[in-house]
Amino acid sequence: MSSSEPNPAVLAALADFKDPETGRGVVQQDQVSEIQASGNKLALTLALSTHSAPLWKETQAECADRLRKQFPDLNEIEVRLAVHPRPPQKLGEIGLMVKSVIAVGSGKGGVGKSTIAASLAYGLKRAGCQVGLMDADVYGPSIPHLIGINRRPEIVEQRIQPIEMDGLKVMSMGFLVPPGEAVVWRGPMLHGAITQFLRDTAWGELDYLIIDMPPGTGDIALTLSQLLPLTGAVVVCTPQDVALLDAVKAIAMFRKVNIPVLGMVENMSYFLCPDNGKRYDIFGSGGAKRRAAELDVPFLGEVPINIQIRVNGDEGKIAGNFSPEAGAAYFEAICHTVVKNLAASHKQAPPLPKLSVLA
Ligand SMILES: Nc1ncnc2c1ncn2[C@@H]1O[C@H](COP(=O)(O)OP(=O)(O)O)[C@@H](O)[C@H]1O
Ligand SMILES: [Mg+2]
Repeated sequence: MSSSEPNPAVLAALADFKDPETGRGVVQQDQVSEIQASGNKLALTLALSTHSAPLWKETQAECADRLRKQFPDLNEIEVRLAVHPRPPQKLGEIGLMVKSVIAVGSGKGGVGKSTIAASLAYGLKRAGCQVGLMDADVYGPSIPHLIGINRRPEIVEQRIQPIEMDGLKVMSMGFLVPPGEAVVWRGPMLHGAITQFLRDTAWGELDYLIIDMPPGTGDIALTLSQLLPLTGAVVVCTPQDVALLDAVKAIAMFRKVNIPVLGMVENMSYFLCPDNGKRYDIFGSGGAKRRAAELDVPFLGEVPINIQIRVNGDEGKIAGNFSPEAGAAYFEAICHTVVKNLAASHKQAPPLPKLSVLA
């Protein structure tokens, strides 16, 4: 193998290797560069977008595997990662610069919907994605409490500046209304508030906007579906039968307003006793997984009952859910599955501008 670049043999070996965000070939999209071949060593740079950050490691490994199979004589193969700049395109009439908008909903309150929404947003950000978190639960906004920040957002040039938490952009009605004060919403006001949150907040360019939905009623889901094409909804439930029936209603509600259901997350799945390591299925077991299969929606993962998750929520330390004691692996798995499923569907991928990364 010669050391000249571009290297046709290497590009041919990766000709049908797909980018996880777009489902298109990485060679075709100029994502392979700096190919260095000498003796029995091969190194190259694979550029991937921040949208697929949770899949970077496995994509890197798959790429190296592919090269190893194609060039069995080489004994050193290195795939370096780089960021492939790929800005979002305007979404909907309000012109949001976001690639994927994901609503997190449930049939009823108290199932941990806000905890899952905030952890999903934080987990994606932690993996390297650009993420916004919008609290659309205007009846009981709990995101400020969960992230431990409550201050009024600044207005710059008539645009609301989202509150930044470790690089996560957050907006909530809770930042605008004093805690403990009730807001009574009439239909048109509600529509106006949600529209303003989406249109007048300076979200910037995002890979994901995660929306914490209010429980139950379809008003806000309807408003959202009229404002922009949502990528889909994640439905959170607990394993109890009643909560599962509520989850079924939530799925029906999303489907009614044409928001695709990305899948179900089972929260408070079981209790792992910290004293003896024994598992207690407090609300039964496997219910959500079974129901997801019956309803033909993907199962996205489970989160056990963990005292640390409750403490983190009360102390406003959502980042703490990514510590091993709080069950980081469960939250990471959910983030991974959501992105992986999106990668498999590729419904959202717009055509790409050509970039000249290759020499
Ligand atoms: N897996 C879990 N283990 C322990 N406590 C949890 C878990 N999930 C959520 N909680 C706690 O349950 C309460 C309700 O969660 P929250 O996310 O506010 O629910 P919802 O948004 O559905 O009303 C909070 O105190 C939260 O910290
Ligand atoms: Mg909530």
